Amino acid sequence: DDPRLRHISDSIRSIPNWPKEGILFQDITTTLLDPVAFGHCVDILYERYKDQKVDVVAGFEARGLIFGAPLALRLKCAFVPLRKPKKLPGETIGEEYTLEYGSDRIEMHVGHVKEGNRVVLVDDLIATGGTMVAGIKLMKKVKADIVEAACILELPLLKGKDKLVEHQVGLYTMVEKDVL
Ligand code: PRP
Ligand code: MG
Repeated sequence: DDPRLRHISDSIRSIPNWPKEGILFQDITTTLLDPVAFGHCVDILYERYKDQKVDVVAGFEARGLIFGAPLALRLKCAFVPLRKPKKLPGETIGEEYTLEYGSDRIEMHVGHVKEGNRVVLVDDLIATGGTMVAGIKLMKKVKADIVEAACILELPLLKGKDKLVEHQVGLYTMVEKDVL
């Protein structure tokens, strides 16, 4: 038991009934206020992947960008943003997905993740797993090699991890909260 994990967990704020009734929103902006907690998140990911020959960290817009970009800098590897539709100026490749609330699509620039690249997928949170599975499918489309999917926070009641098992991708999370 790493005491840093408790610090990270305590730094996440819960906001009831947002963005809609019945959702207890997990807000990581309070983690970002605390450079010790934010630093622990990046340090723990760095320690986990530093010897894994990672070529690319891919981060999901919006909140996965915040944790993914500093990890890529630490690993001295490429960072590739996975963006919401029509944000990227170059040629894109995309994947549709369903969210806990709504449906969406992620896109990345063609050629920025290459066949055989070793990729770590990073997001702040895994809930239903829809977002992460879309990232996995996108990486498989370009024949990348997925090292692991990593999130700061997991909501195990929503069983996102089971979806990743179906796709034979491992999930690493630091903190779990039993909320919906
Ligand atoms: C949130 C969160 C994850 C995703 C998890 O993103 O940041 O990316 O939902 O849900 P899932 O496992 O059910 O797919 P969201 O798209 O709501 O907004 P963001 O742009 O603020 O990251
Ligand atoms: Mg998100």
